[in-house]
Amino acid sequence: MDLQLAIFDLDGVIVDTAKYHYLAWKRLGDELGIEFTEQDNERLKGVSRMRSLDIILELGNQKKTQEEKEALTAKKNSWYVESILQMDASQILPGVLDFLEDLKARSVKIALGSASKNARTILERVQITNYFDAIIDGNLVSKAKPDPEVFLLGATKLGVKPTQTVVFEDAQAGIEAALNAGMYTVGVGDRKILSEAHVVISSFESLNVEELFHALTGQG
Ligand code: BG6
Ligand code: MG
Repeated sequence: MDLQLAIFDLDGVIVDTAKYHYLAWKRLGDELGIEFTEQDNERLKGVSRMRSLDIILELGNQKKTQEEKEALTAKKNSWYVESILQMDASQILPGVLDFLEDLKARSVKIALGSASKNARTILERVQITNYFDAIIDGNLVSKAKPDPEVFLLGATKLGVKPTQTVVFEDAQAGIEAALNAGMYTVGVGDRKILSEAHVVISSFESLNVEELFHALTGQG
């Protein structure tokens, strides 16, 4: 069956915002006296804002009240937002725009499936909001990846079956979520981390829709 919908994760797939998340969490970690490395940051990919803070507090063996945690995540987010407001179209990852154009030319629908509550701001900053037929972000979902909710919501909204949908993800939790939804999966990044995906690509550069869909489904 032909694929009719492509759902994209945002952070780490369309833009490299993981670095801004890291810098903001690191700044918070410094304030709290918690050491937080780039390797620790891998665990935060695809994970909600509050869960990310919980992981950092666990690393530092610290406990906070709910109220304190709300204040800490708000502070981190204000630093993160400062960074993303500086973004522009030059920060779209290589090959992404051509790939979106290729999908459009083939009448494949395009959706966003992100845990981020800042997703719309980022899409606006890098000027690609108009490519998306549906935008499902952290404000619309209640269950975090690897729960399939975010991707199922996108497919339902556009009236496409999960079996006709492909998801692009850089996080292991995201690949699991897409598999749990019964969708095709393309891992973007490290083959070792994303080994469960149907296909793994290192970037969108020179990626061709027809070839990729053929590799996924055995059909053109
Ligand atoms: C995901 C990122 O896309 O969004 C996570 O991979 C992040 O690292 C999560 O924590 C939530 O983002 P935000 O922008 O709502 O804090
Ligand atoms: Mg991601």
